[in-house]
This record gives sequence, structure tokens and C-alpha cells, in this order.
Amino acid sequence: MKSSTAVISLLSAAAPLASAWGDLGHQAIAYVAQDFLSSETKSWAQDILSDTSTSYLANYATWADTFKYTSAGSFSKPYHYIDANDNPPSSCSVDYDRDCDGGGCVVAAISNYTGIMQSDSSSTDQNQALKFLIHFFGDIHQPLHDEALEVGGNDIDVKYSGSSTNLHHIWDTNMPEQYAGGYSLSDARAWATELTQSIKSGDYSDQSDDWLDGMDIDDPKDSAMTWASDSNSYVCTSVFSESQSQIEKDMDLAGDYYDQALPVIQVQFAKAGYRLGAWLNLIATGSTS
Ligand SMILES: *[C@@H]1O[C@H](CO)[C@@H](O)[C@H](O)[C@H]1NC(C)=O
Ligand SMILES: [Zn+2]
Repeated sequence: MKSSTAVISLLSAAAPLASAWGDLGHQAIAYVAQDFLSSETKSWAQDILSDTSTSYLANYATWADTFKYTSAGSFSKPYHYIDANDNPPSSCSVDYDRDCDGGGCVVAAISNYTGIMQSDSSSTDQNQALKFLIHFFGDIHQPLHDEALEVGGNDIDVKYSGSSTNLHHIWDTNMPEQYAGGYSLSDARAWATELTQSIKSGDYSDQSDDWLDGMDIDDPKDSAMTWASDSNSYVCTSVFSESQSQIEKDMDLAGDYYDQALPVIQVQFAKAGYRLGAWLNLIATGSTS
């Protein structure tokens, strides 16, 4: 994520690592996806991953964040985000030609690894491609992974419950962990169960059909652009919204800011899992469910 000078007062000298939804978020999203796989897709995925456990997708949800720090995996670092060079909070947008630097970004990566899953590539390549997809569906739904400003918020120092951190990190990790009250695999499973319930018969049941609008397995790039644009819109309406414009350097965001952000985190986890499930169903069977 490129630096920008638009919010100079918030600049810091620190250069923290760009991460992604923490383990908790990626695992919760993978569990939601598991809940929506057809039995045929489930067997297909378990076969590719050589895992028949009850967390057969969730077990690989964070693999890509480890792999990117290895010498074999460093090529994949830019694949975890797209650097939207927009102008929040007044205008948010993602433009593939402007923002997918040199053709390496999360939108291109989702397209690439979908293509690998659809081809008759080796089982090793399929295994890696599936692990990438599980992870990148999470990343693309984190609003600050669809934003260039201040390195996706990594360069904005804030506090959270008294600890020094940055805006990107609280979206990835601190705020999700505050809600879940932990970060174990079982915390992720419990959260996913709530989200799946909301999608099937709760708060999200009316909108979840719309979450598949723009999804076309024959056009992975445009499909992923739909998700990136959707996520990026929250950069204007929530992350840096006028009502959130109280963010100042080193401000503690564990109070009102968290309260306003939580519904966005919840719905983005739900969408990520639901879309990942439908996408894998499409690859494996040609149908979303
Ligand atoms: C596509 O996947 C191959 C295999 O992992 C990788 O070498 C290449 O960098 C990928 N490109 C993108 C844009 O994801
Ligand atoms: Zn990531």
C-alpha cells in the first residue's frame, strides 16, 4: 500500500507490517464459507486440502499470511490488497487500471487463482490456489485492504484499550477480538455460527441474495472488482466517515469508534464467507449452492 500525504497530521514515523484480518477474522470467514458449501463442494475441497476435519477450510485461512514472509512466497505480498488511490472521506472508488499496480493486487490474484482451480493444474498448484482463495476473500472484504491512503491506515497511529497500534491493525485484529473476546479457532467457530444464522434466518436474510450480485465465475476479475468496490465504500462511510472524523493521532478508539465500526466488520465477515462459499460451489459444481 502506497503512502499518501493527504492526512499529514496523522503521519507517523513507524513502519508497521501490513497484515490482514487477524487469524480470528480469516478463520471465522472460512467457517461461514464451510457452512454454505454443497456436499459435493465439501468433498472436492477436502480432497484438494487432504483434510476431512471439521475445520477443513478454516485450518488454511491464514496460510497466505505466513507464506508471504518466506522467500518462496514473497512474490505474493502485493496480492493481499488493492491500493485504491481515491480521496476519502469525500470520494471512494476502486479503478483496476489505476489501482492494481503492475497487475499485482488482490483482484488480479483472485482471478489468477480461480483460473488455476478451473484448469487441470497439478494437485500441488490446486492446493496452493485454494489456500490463497480462502485467504484473499477475507482480505478483499477488509475496507483498509482496498485503500491506499496512509498505507491502508498502517501509518495512522492510534491507541486501542491503552495499547499503541495503528488504524489498519485495529480493523484487522483489535476490534474483531474485542467482539469475540478471544482469538482461538473455537472463538472463530462461535462467531461464524452467529453469522451463518443471521444469513439464513436473521438480520442478513433479506440482503444476502444481493451479495451475489455481480458474481460471474466466467469473469473473476469483474466479480472481484465488485467486492473490492463494495468494501472500499466503507472507507468513506465508516473508516474515515465524517462521524468518525474525530480520529486524531494516538486517540484511543476502543469506545465510540468501535461501536460504529462493529456492524461493518460483522457484515463484511458475513459477505466474505457467503461469497467464498458460493464461489467455491461455482468452481466445483457450476452452481452457487
Ligand atoms: C498467479 O499464480 C502464479 C502461481 O502461484 C504466480 O506465480 C503468479 O505470480 C500469480 N499472479 C497473480 C497476479 O496472482
Ligand atoms: Zn492477507
